[in-house]
Amino acid sequence: MLLVRNGRVIDPASKTDAALDVLLDGEKIKEVALTGKTRTAPGAEVFDAKGLIVAPGFIDLHAHLREPGQESSETIETGTRAAAHGGFTAVCCMPNTKPVNDNASVTRFILDRAKATGSVRVWPIGAASLGSKGEAISEIAGMKEAGIVAVSDDGKPIATAKLARQVMDYCRSLDLPVIEHAEDVSLAAGAVMREGVSSTRLGLRGMPAAAESVCVGRDVQLAELTGARVHIAHLSAKASIEQVRWAKSRGLRVTCEVTPHHFTLIDEDVTYDSRFKMNPPLAAREDRVALLEGLADGTVDAIATDHAPHEPALKDVEFDRAPFGVLGFETALALALEQLVHSGKLSLMRMIELFATGPARVLGMERQIAAGQAADLTVFSADHAWTYRVEESSSKSRNSPFDGRKFKGRPIATIVDGQVVYKN
Ligand code: DOR
Ligand code: ZN
Repeated sequence: MLLVRNGRVIDPASKTDAALDVLLDGEKIKEVALTGKTRTAPGAEVFDAKGLIVAPGFIDLHAHLREPGQESSETIETGTRAAAHGGFTAVCCMPNTKPVNDNASVTRFILDRAKATGSVRVWPIGAASLGSKGEAISEIAGMKEAGIVAVSDDGKPIATAKLARQVMDYCRSLDLPVIEHAEDVSLAAGAVMREGVSSTRLGLRGMPAAAESVCVGRDVQLAELTGARVHIAHLSAKASIEQVRWAKSRGLRVTCEVTPHHFTLIDEDVTYDSRFKMNPPLAAREDRVALLEGLADGTVDAIATDHAPHEPALKDVEFDRAPFGVLGFETALALALEQLVHSGKLSLMRMIELFATGPARVLGMERQIAAGQAADLTVFSADHAWTYRVEESSSKSRNSPFDGRKFKGRPIATIVDGQVVYKN
């Protein structure tokens, strides 16, 4: 048993914000009671959360753990350790591994490795199409049986509207969300950043915001046609958020996520340093404003990291030649506190909803700090001063644009299945 004592429990599911003790008994929460009032067993371990916030365990809907196949950039062991350091109790891993997770045997391999080496829960996402090639639908039912929580061809969009429709029809009957990396590849071809004054100034090829929003439009229409649950990944453009808002107002089952790098940085921050290169690229100033509005007003369902490690040998090259992607786990909470909470734009309650309750809902799950629920908690400080040093990262890779940034607030303990898997 583990007693998390003296903390400020903030739970969006029950709209709780109070000084409470939480007693964990193995995999389940046993009791939540006013501080000092839990009936604890003799010998229960005690975690003193005085001055800290106790939240339902954070879930990252979007991460790349690189195993199998690209273990020089990350493994399930190193990636989930970094996730634990970031306060995440569960991570959904994208299928663009080598081989691609497009069948049950790869799904089972990932789950076996997670069991043997992982620090936090790993929930695999299966490919929508075989090899994510966009030609034929993958073995979705078999993967669902093996344990996938969603499908996606992330790294690229589901190639055609026809295939996307087929995948959505299929996933509707299986009640799985379809996660879309929204990109019109004809508009994005050859581009390495967002099109605009900054791309012109740097002399780098840009893609317009429409490279994303055109595909969001397609998928919203297909969500209406099929009735499927459609989740837009790493949404970055104002026109995309407007379409998600419209879809929700029509009662469509459309959800979306935003990354910390997109709500923090803009295209004007891009230099020739490849740590500012990711897909979708950093957007325009007005897009960031629209994302902040969507994060505040409920249009955005989740903050997801798109943690995308690339080893230095691959990433430390000219901007044009570098792969897309940045690290995300260990800076996500601190960036959210800085940009959303300390700035006065969001309450702590809403921020926690975006990290825990919201992502759970996208997956059709529940997250609540209540007796009988999973004993997964994220304990954090909202004001502890620290500096992020990427050389101290648990990730195998170093591709963060936030190295050296000073923060206020950080994860203090990550608890999965009643076990403390990270403690600062
Ligand atoms: O920046 C990105 N990196 N965007 C993606 O869609 C894929 C990801 C990766 O796998 O590195
Ligand atoms: Zn993507």
